[in-house]
Amino acid sequence: MIPIPEEIEAYAERHSRGLSPLHDLVWKETHEKTKSPKMMVGALEGALLRLLVRITAAKRVLEIGMFTGYSALAWAEALPEDGRLVTCDTNPDTTEIAKRYFAASPHGHKIEVRLGPALETVKTLRGPFDICFIDADKPSYGAYYEACLELTRPRGLIILDNMMQKGNVLNPSDEKVRGIDALNKRVLNDPRVENVLLPIRDGIMLACKL
Ligand SMILES: C[S@@+](CC[C@H](N)C(=O)[O-])C[C@H]1O[C@@H](n2cnc3c(N)ncnc32)[C@H](O)[C@@H]1O
Repeated sequence: MIPIPEEIEAYAERHSRGLSPLHDLVWKETHEKTKSPKMMVGALEGALLRLLVRITAAKRVLEIGMFTGYSALAWAEALPEDGRLVTCDTNPDTTEIAKRYFAASPHGHKIEVRLGPALETVKTLRGPFDICFIDADKPSYGAYYEACLELTRPRGLIILDNMMQKGNVLNPSDEKVRGIDALNKRVLNDPRVENVLLPIRDGIMLACKL
């Protein structure tokens, strides 16, 4: 995460509408059973994603990078009854955890899980999506961005997570961070979108398709 004082983040979390109690259970199990629980977006970013669904009145959301289902549940909570989240991942073990929580959620019926490499999955999808969220393997971010631009409706949102790489974009020292820095510049200069890069958690890029 980018270095924001912990107490500031905690204050922001305490003054933002909380996620469902099911999120606490996913959070706990993910910490107990997986090696990288920090991959979850957390309560503050989850609340932001959920609010973006409400603001845009989104009915179709695409998520690339589901993990144990934390962010997927946040999307699904805000989608209307006939809304749909398509969420992609390659890991069968974390997908098994996510699916258990989707089954326990009153919003689980809105979620369609696609197991397999997302670059293959996106080729099988038909747009338009109102929101596309990119939160998976970093080397593929550029390709996901292009695929999502195709799949998103005009005035729809493409959201890219971890776009500040713990602040290392200021002095990119490895290939991964240089790639993310280059993508930030590419989005900024892309005439097909209007963007803002938010310094929340690990940096959230919002790009509205024009
Ligand atoms: C940062 S985590 C996603 C976290 C999730 N959005 C959340 O808030 O709980 C990234 C996920 O991307 C998945 N992933 C990695 N490479 C992938 C690929 N090529 N296609 C689809 N998913 C992939 C990983 O298995 C991992 O679960």
